[in-house]
Formats: sequence, C-alpha cells, structure tokens
Amino acid sequence: MLVRIDPKTYADNWETESTLFENKEIYKRLNQITPNGNVLEIGSGVGLATLALASSHSVLAIDNNVHLVSKARARLAAAKSTAEIVIADIFEPSAECVTAIRDFSPKVITGWFLGSHADDQERYVGADVPLEHWAKKYRENIEDAMLTTNICPPSVEWVHLAGRTGMIAGASADFVSQETKDDYDKYVFLPNGFEVIDVQVLDWDTSDSSFQYGAAPNPNILPGKSIPKILSILAKRKGL
Ligand SMILES: C[S@@+](CC[C@H](N)C(=O)[O-])C[C@H]1O[C@@H](n2cnc3c(N)ncnc32)[C@H](O)[C@@H]1O
Repeated sequence: MLVRIDPKTYADNWETESTLFENKEIYKRLNQITPNGNVLEIGSGVGLATLALASSHSVLAIDNNVHLVSKARARLAAAKSTAEIVIADIFEPSAECVTAIRDFSPKVITGWFLGSHADDQERYVGADVPLEHWAKKYRENIEDAMLTTNICPPSVEWVHLAGRTGMIAGASADFVSQETKDDYDKYVFLPNGFEVIDVQVLDWDTSDSSFQYGAAPNPNILPGKSIPKILSILAKRKGL
C-alpha cells in the first residue's frame, strides 16, 4: 500500500536519509565529480548537499519545499556559507527565479536524488499514470523541467545527476554504465543538446537505512537480487 507523505513529513524523512548520505561521504564523492564553475543546485534538500558543493563551488539552489529550505538555510547560516537558496518550483519558475538564474550564470546544474512528496507528484504526473509509477514519472518530468531554457540557460555546460539504484548481483559496472548512458542520452539529454560523458556506479552501504529503496524501480535493472548503488551521471553540452 502506498502511504501519502505530506511536505513536512517528506522534509523530516529526507533529513534522516540525507544525514546517512552525509555520514557515508556520498555528497563529498559526488562533489568531487561535479565540474568546476558556478553550480545551480536543483533541490537543496536539508542543505547537506549544498554545503558539499559549496566547499568548492559558488552555489545557487532552488527548492519549492519551505520545510526543507528552512532546514537548509539554518545549516548554511551555521556554516557561514555564502550559498543561496531561492524558493521556487522549477515546473513553474517565478520571474524572480528566472532572473536570479540568469544573473548567476550557472556553468553546472546538479540534480541529485530528485523527487518530492505526494502533493507535487499528483500535481505534475498525469492522472492516467498508476500510483506506483508516480515517483518514477515525477523524476522523469523534473529532469525534463530542469533542462528547459528558463532553468538551464545557455551558460550551462554540464549537468550532473545522481540517484539511487539497484545493481543486479553479477552485472558489471560497465554494463550498467552503458545502459544508463544509452537510456539517458535517448530520453533526456540528446533531445536537449547534451550528451552523457561519464557514468559512475558508486558503492553505498545501506545497512543503517530504513528507506524503501525498492520503491524506485530502474528500467535498466533486471528483476532479481539487487545491490544498492549510487548512480552518478554527468552530461556535457554538445559542441563545446
Ligand atoms: C530527495 S531531495 C534531494 C535533495 C538534495 N539534492 C540532496 O541530494 O540531498 C529532492 C529535493 O528536490 C526538491 N524538489 C522537488 N521537486 C521540486 C520542484 N518542482 N521545484 C523545486 N524543487 C523541487 C525537494 O523539495 C527536495 O529538496
């Protein structure tokens, strides 16, 4: 049965999960893959990813969940970080948000662990989509929204996505990387003028997590016993 998660509960749950990521240095490892330059972070979460990015980049973050933004702003203030967060919905960005992005002139966009609560999913996923596919469809739709010109202006050269996945026992990382590249190039990046140039399958110890990883099925993964992994997908604007 699907449990409907409200925006505040989603924020509290994400704080738990995000802290586990932080403790396992997932954000640090992802930040090492993120190219240099001004970073537009889609989804600040509780600010832990923002802080990792801000350790070596100028960061402007966009988020539409006020509960998460207040947690993130408190962390940024405590760390005396200069990273800023704009409250906006990337499906319907305000004029202020679009101007802030243009003025910031991002070179890199990050979309790490994109997702949201049931209210957002209901709003931006078609009524014809079965409930169990809402999370996956929402992620696909937000990846498309992230690449629209208002959010991804011509200054952007790189897009860095990260997500949770399961790797079938015995499958090679090369196989998963190639399948991921083919899939993302076809459906996400090539139609928007980008191309995947690096996929990394990072180890991820989930032994102390209660998160329902099975709820995010990956079409690349065959059914069977799967090992939790973090997938890092780096795309570059074509022709640069
Ligand atoms: C699972 S959290 C990941 C946060 C952060 N990137 C991290 O790695 O910890 C997803 C984030 O995306 C934000 N988000 C989801 N849908 C959004 C939308 N339509 N506009 C802006 N932010 C959104 C959520 O509020 C949340 O902060």
